[in-house]
Amino acid sequence: MSTNLIVANIKSYETLEEGNFWIEKFLAHKDSLSALTQKEIVICPPFTLLLSFSSAFLGTNIKIGAQNVSPFNEGAYTGEINAKQIKDFAEYVLIGHSERRKFFAETEDMLKKKTEISLKNGLKPIFLVQGKNAIIPQGVGVVAYEPVFAIGSGNPDTPENADELAEVLKSENDYLVLYGGSVTSENVKNFTSKANINGVLVGGASLDPEEFYKIIENA
Ligand code: PGA
Repeated sequence: MSTNLIVANIKSYETLEEGNFWIEKFLAHKDSLSALTQKEIVICPPFTLLLSFSSAFLGTNIKIGAQNVSPFNEGAYTGEINAKQIKDFAEYVLIGHSERRKFFAETEDMLKKKTEISLKNGLKPIFLVQGKNAIIPQGVGVVAYEPVFAIGSGNPDTPENADELAEVLKSENDYLVLYGGSVTSENVKNFTSKANINGVLVGGASLDPEEFYKIIENA
């Protein structure tokens, strides 16, 4: 598929020192990465590393995303990071990850609020769904299909099934659709070569900058 959007979700990993090491390793491929103009690369580090990552990749073709956003505007919401604050560092934001739905009890209503507030503040949501009949808020342009059984399990969905689901999603709206769940440099092409899949969302494998680079190369 023509659009090839490759997203790294670093999750709740990496200290400042580890993050800087990741950046250094990945930047060793800077020239080859800048030649890959047909691929769009987005890295979603934890909040504590947004400044390091956004500064390191400023002026390159590598974009930054946040992994979460507050459903509220600025205000007395202790511990929350709002969309306006994220916009200082990032262009994208992940919304609706199954880990947030499960461990942080995020409801469809909350995800809708997060989406609306992100769009209002100029952030592009990457909205995650786990299967068919997903509720996708208005204004979303990028959807990532991540079946729960495939996340971190080493057991990805079949490319055929992912492609079929992407086709269903696209029949509802003009989305870019990503596949996520146990993507590696070995299997990435099986997904990105499918007609309805526009890219991938990579968790575990993105923790190794060399492996993430290989995923981009092979996608
Ligand atoms: P995984 O995670 O690549 O480790 O399966 C994907 C994700 O949760 O975004």
